[in-house]
Amino acid sequence: MDTEILRIESAGEHLTPDADELLQRAGAIIRQGGLVAFPTETVYGLGGDALNASSSEKIYAAKGRPSDNPLIIHICRIEDLRGIVKDVPEVAYKIAKAFWPGPLTMIMEKADIVPTQTTGGLNTVAVRFPSHKIAQKLIEYSGGFVAAPSANLSGKPSPTGAKYVIEDMRGRIDAIIDGGDVGIGLESTILDLTVTPPQILRPGYVTQQMLEELLGEVEIDRTTLREDTKEAPKAPGMKYRHYAPKADLLIVEGSLEAVVAYINRRSKTDRQQGKKVGIIATGETCDSYEADVIKDVGFRGDQETIARNLFRVLREFDDAGVDCIYSEGFDTDGLGQAIMNRLLKAAGHKRIQV
Ligand code: TXA
Ligand code: MG
Repeated sequence: MDTEILRIESAGEHLTPDADELLQRAGAIIRQGGLVAFPTETVYGLGGDALNASSSEKIYAAKGRPSDNPLIIHICRIEDLRGIVKDVPEVAYKIAKAFWPGPLTMIMEKADIVPTQTTGGLNTVAVRFPSHKIAQKLIEYSGGFVAAPSANLSGKPSPTGAKYVIEDMRGRIDAIIDGGDVGIGLESTILDLTVTPPQILRPGYVTQQMLEELLGEVEIDRTTLREDTKEAPKAPGMKYRHYAPKADLLIVEGSLEAVVAYINRRSKTDRQQGKKVGIIATGETCDSYEADVIKDVGFRGDQETIARNLFRVLREFDDAGVDCIYSEGFDTDGLGQAIMNRLLKAAGHKRIQV
């Protein structure tokens, strides 16, 4: 399949007439049952018509993703919740008013019109109203309901720039909209509203604390930060070893000094054995390491920068062909909950305390 690459310069408030024309074309592709990858504020999505069962099947095939893993439906108006959710609870409007458009997904009971292919066989549906202007226009021109998982091949880190979408999806889908790099870099927070109190199934930019300020008590699925062999994660997708680079990744936790010393020791022995070593370092420590590839994800206090860099850095280690990666651990306050959740999944929960 030939994949059209549509470049859209500005992701600002107003789109140029040129951009509008391209987005109408992309919308027509989705309405006709095709697939288009597009930028959102979190990561790039792989979009198809959410109300068309065969589009959802095509999405699973393009990603190489198991079809029991439900898709998020993207909308571009709060009112459209009513089109795909059975009885929209009052609390959903309260949350939407506070956090939409933005990086938050809500899970509710699905309306009959939503095919079970889109929801991975579940009778609930995940819904998000993204804030990215390109995404909003595309959703509008596509008919209002766009199913979109992250636009990576299953098992790879979510794409934070068009380059990675092109790498994974060229030849597998109809078009890719290149709208530049994303702002947040980690996927949306997923909040399950079918339980009381509401439960976070995947931490993201909208933090537990922000939700608690609005709603009172909010729980978080315990498997998001801990490996639990007895309990499966409640978001089906969270059970897969996601976001994973090709190399083995080990998270090293402890005082910064001890972490640096430990990683340097391991790096030295690995390299003596002929291995190529990568390190996920921070602004504070990146000059203290010796390894083949050292990536600075940002200063430890600047969680937004760390979040934005994490998936890109994981992909860059793939490109560099390293054999093993050591990463510093991060605090789990605020956005740190999402950062550590993704890092732990990338590491298959391999961590060591030093
Ligand atoms: O930021 C995002 O959410 C991005 C952009 C493109 O919007 N999308 C994204 O989609 O991350 P995906 O498919 O990669 O991740 C969706 C997650 C999966 O873990 C899936 O299992 C879970 O949401 N999910 C979807 N519907 C669900 C449902 N009804 N119940 C529980 N979990 C659900
Ligand atoms: Mg994904």
